[in-house]
Amino acid sequence: MSRGALLERLGVERPVVQAGMGGGLAGSALAAAVSGAGGLGTIGILPAEHLNRELKAAREHLGPGKPLAVNLLLPFARRGHWEAAKQADAVVTFWGKPRRHTARVWIHQCGSVDEARNARAAGADAVIAQGVEAGGHVRGKVPAIELLERTRDALGRDYPVLLAGGIAEPVDVQVALEAGAEAAVLGTRFLMTDESGARKAYKQRLMESRETVLTELFGAGWPNAPHRVIWNEACERWLEDDKRGPAWVRKLNATTGPLLRRVPLERQTVLMRLQRADRPLLGPFAVTEGSPPRLLDAGPLYAGESVARLHDIRPAAELVAELACGT
Ligand SMILES: Cc1cc2nc3c(=O)[nH]c(=O)nc-3n(C[C@H](O)[C@H](O)[C@H](O)COP(=O)(O)O)c2cc1C
Repeated sequence: MSRGALLERLGVERPVVQAGMGGGLAGSALAAAVSGAGGLGTIGILPAEHLNRELKAAREHLGPGKPLAVNLLLPFARRGHWEAAKQADAVVTFWGKPRRHTARVWIHQCGSVDEARNARAAGADAVIAQGVEAGGHVRGKVPAIELLERTRDALGRDYPVLLAGGIAEPVDVQVALEAGAEAAVLGTRFLMTDESGARKAYKQRLMESRETVLTELFGAGWPNAPHRVIWNEACERWLEDDKRGPAWVRKLNATTGPLLRRVPLERQTVLMRLQRADRPLLGPFAVTEGSPPRLLDAGPLYAGESVARLHDIRPAAELVAELACGT
């Protein structure tokens, strides 16, 4: 496939992809704003019925001809999610053994060359190479550009590789494209928009933050899955000695993980309401306008390293145009 062919197949005009961010952080308002501006908007995972509604709303807003993506986390996706995902043009998967579940364009986000090879062997139309700078759950162990180069060397120049991690400004998009990326994938920058579902106070903290930490603290129900967050009360309380979190908390999460993972996403709000900064049962729930106010200091304030360079909340469509201006 020649460079740009994947975007052309999807009808994406600008090589700017908004990363899927689950739990209501990236809903129909954000995805529609990005796709409407010529990029590729992505709705993040939600309970299946809610996801279905968000996809419908984005479709209605966008009208025909505009592309839309959905992001599904493999450990949590159930039959209802794959059913709902049929409304999207592209399905982006993350975390777990890559396997084709969809007849749509399938893109798998990877943190290593081996994972990218496995995704291609399983029939993925493209992969996203995720660098260690990324916000949210982080599969990458090396800087994004390095992983892009290694992945392209291994998979060949004709296989589309998108790039995620640390991309926040127009110059970053240009560097990614010049290095051979099919498109730039941005999470943190689009989290800091009017349209994202992040709680207002979370957006405020993002604007003021300079430092992130890669931890496993918020791993109840999703253990052994490093995630990058900005500091809050829970981090200060539990990460003093070990940035990954106390060994006994990680062990507890690993033990209870298989059980908690069986709780359907729609029931997990009960666990979210019990979450306190001083209790070590800390889950991955996103801090949205609809979540309990306490979660701001007891939940994960996901953000990538680029948060240090970002100090404003912007309309998403304006960002798409600006990010793509040199392409
Ligand atoms: C707030 C937030 C939530 C995220 N949630 C998800 C998710 O649900 N699924 C997923 O595949 N990736 C998720 N990610 C990771 C992104 O897909 C992407 O790799 C990352 O945002 C890129 O790095 P950046 O934040 O520096 O732009 C999330 C990232 C952020 C910042």
